[in-house]
Amino acid sequence: MSGAEDALAPHPITVARGSLDTVGQVVSRVAPAHLYYLVTDSVVNGLHRERVQLSFRGSRVAAYVFDAGEEHKTRETWALVTDAMLEAGVGRDTTIVALGGGVVGDLAGFVAATYMRGIPFVQVPTTLLAMIDASIGGKTGVDTPAGKNLVGAFHQPSAVIADPEVLATLPPAQLRSGLAEAIKHGVIADTAYFGRIVDHLPALLSANGASTDEMTQLIVDSVRIKTSIVQRDERESGLRKILNFGHTIGHAIEQASGFRLLHGQAVAIGMAVECALGERLGVTDPGTGAVLTRALIAAGLPTRRPADLHPDRIVAATRSDKKSRHGAVEYALPSRIGAMAAEAQGWTLPVADDLVLDVLA
Ligand SMILES: NC(=O)c1ccc[n+]([C@@H]2O[C@H](COP(=O)([O-])OP(=O)(O)OC[C@H]3O[C@@H](n4cnc5c(N)ncnc54)[C@H](O)[C@@H]3O)[C@@H](O)[C@H]2O)c1
Ligand SMILES: [Zn+2]
Repeated sequence: MSGAEDALAPHPITVARGSLDTVGQVVSRVAPAHLYYLVTDSVVNGLHRERVQLSFRGSRVAAYVFDAGEEHKTRETWALVTDAMLEAGVGRDTTIVALGGGVVGDLAGFVAATYMRGIPFVQVPTTLLAMIDASIGGKTGVDTPAGKNLVGAFHQPSAVIADPEVLATLPPAQLRSGLAEAIKHGVIADTAYFGRIVDHLPALLSANGASTDEMTQLIVDSVRIKTSIVQRDERESGLRKILNFGHTIGHAIEQASGFRLLHGQAVAIGMAVECALGERLGVTDPGTGAVLTRALIAAGLPTRRPADLHPDRIVAATRSDKKSRHGAVEYALPSRIGAMAAEAQGWTLPVADDLVLDVLA
């Protein structure tokens, strides 16, 4: 990676400053097509689309722009995009280029997975969360009134191209939200990486953080960790569950609060709470939660539930999460910073509601 390509991945992943200008060149090599169909949202369109489009030089390029925001990651937007493509006579010999955050990646990826039974696509993630998480692993999909990401498909991109410099335009709260997932990667898989993130927080959060070597390295390290986990478990039957650390409580908080927190903020609280659960159960080394909480606070992330969100409502929401099964809600818990517990049990453990209520109180 980092300018080169990752031998681990089935497709090239580029992480390099300035790589936005190489998108056309990379895409026409890995997924050459008659037409390149850019899908982006209304915010990223104004900031970065032109540069990407120019990188295609003489090739045929068309674009679809939808309104930014999670509330547009829907079947309705999917229908609008596919209808526009059908109307324009877009054929199978087309590569979709998803330029944007996780919302664009998930939606455009789902369009690619389904349009004429599947056409190639390339991810050009523009948020930290999309670079280190959403663009990796091949999950695509949309939200429905019944819940998030309930309709979707596995569809691997032909390439992922991440230019850390585009993060310069990202609102700081969004950057911090992405850092929560990077910290999660450190906790679940790599003690040294966790330490590096903490050491580099001042540089990462500085005004020119997007242009630092520390930012590029963070993306490379997180991509390496996520790629290696999903490659060992592409369909989420086992190991991939460790990526859910912080997410059982995190998703419940998002849901119970009506999605008023950013995803990474909810996950930060979720990690702190789940770490405390692990310590109470004796599966997590004592003191782990304190180290993690300090790191999250230094990254400007919350570690406690919003005061007006009652523990009962959070616990009720954990029960409606699609990860609950056999009556008991399952949690992926760390054994310490850098390693997860319960390998023999399939990487998750059931936790009693009473204990969760007690830790949330
Ligand atoms: N497929 C997966 O495996 C996976 C994993 C994690 C998350 N996700 C999904 O990702 C989505 C969240 O992604 P996200 O946090 O990137 O949200 P997002 O795509 O909504 O982006 C957040 C905001 O930042 C704006 N933005 C994007 N890039 C920008 C830039 N460079 N400069 C300025 N503004 C920019 C967007 O327009 C949006 O308003 C959720 O829908 C989630 O379900 C998917
Ligand atoms: Zn997440």
